[in-house]
Amino acid sequence: MTKDIIILAIESSCDDTSASVIVNGVVRSNCIAGQKAHEAYGGVVPEIASRAHQLNIVPVVDLALKDAGIELKDLSAIAFTRGPGLLGSLLVGVSFAKAIALSLNIALIEVNHIQAHVLAHFIDAPKPTYPFICMTVSGGHTQILLVKDSLLMQELGTTIDDAAGEAFDKIGKILGLGYPAGPIIDRLSGEGKPVFQFSEPMVEGYNFSFSGLKTNVLRFLQKEIKTNPDFIKENLADICASVQDRIVSILLNKLKKAVFDHKISEVAIAGGVSANSGLRMALEAAGKKHGWKTYIPQFQYCTDNAAMIAMTAHFKYLEGSFCGQETVPLSRYKF
Ligand code: KG4
Ligand code: ZN
Repeated sequence: MTKDIIILAIESSCDDTSASVIVNGVVRSNCIAGQKAHEAYGGVVPEIASRAHQLNIVPVVDLALKDAGIELKDLSAIAFTRGPGLLGSLLVGVSFAKAIALSLNIALIEVNHIQAHVLAHFIDAPKPTYPFICMTVSGGHTQILLVKDSLLMQELGTTIDDAAGEAFDKIGKILGLGYPAGPIIDRLSGEGKPVFQFSEPMVEGYNFSFSGLKTNVLRFLQKEIKTNPDFIKENLADICASVQDRIVSILLNKLKKAVFDHKISEVAIAGGVSANSGLRMALEAAGKKHGWKTYIPQFQYCTDNAAMIAMTAHFKYLEGSFCGQETVPLSRYKF
């Protein structure tokens, strides 16, 4: 009888502490503790994040094991996010995983967070077939990847300044919305129309830029407020719809270019911003128009979660790709 492959995975790269158990490639649990403390600051405060991870990690891991009906002694390996992310946050997950691996004498697997966002597509059916193009869009990253195999990905383009989620959040802050503003802008967009024209940046190849859009929105609002101090209040839904429309068109135009240039018809999106209703609709419409098969993960696997780390770790386990106790977290981690 072959032995079950049972992996406990930990994600702590930003402000969510998450743990997941995967058994023979099937996710059994995915527990997440978010951190509300950052809302008051309009962004993630690294020091607060790492301290909250320290408080959350034991209860979250306990719950993930309990939900999966698994005990520590059953584990074949323990996986963790090595990076990219906030160093203090990563350090909590990395140290915790190393300690468990050492005490149970089991294998240790390090996982790249971006690669994991892409492999979230393999948690549930329908699963993309290789090669496919995946655009990862979140608060910390925006990339277009050519995915040749589970652990073989090539970065075609990335943002040269802010990430797409960061653009949503920073523009939301200008508009006086809460943090994270992405879901709020998404909701308000449904009540408005994209009547304001914001500029599309000129960036070469498959790269993105979002900082110009933020400045464009700020200047536009400053000008309008001079003649009407209530401009934001009176036009909030239309401003949100216009911002969302522009961010979606920037993302979709680059994605289309990559898909056409590489003559690929399997197209996926991943990361927190893939929860955006405008982006989901635009991707589905482009898929219908151009004959692509499109893939969007379930909402719980779009934002940061340990199930995607567990899925990636399962692929790495099958390849015998393990790491040692000397492994350190990396705030920047290219694969
Ligand atoms: O993947 P994620 O949970 O964390 C990072 O790795 O960054 O993504 C969080 C980002 C935030 O910037 C948030 O505003 C954005 O995803 N986001 C959205 C939506 N839901 C989350 N942006 C636009 N529309 C949404 N519905
Ligand atoms: Zn992420």
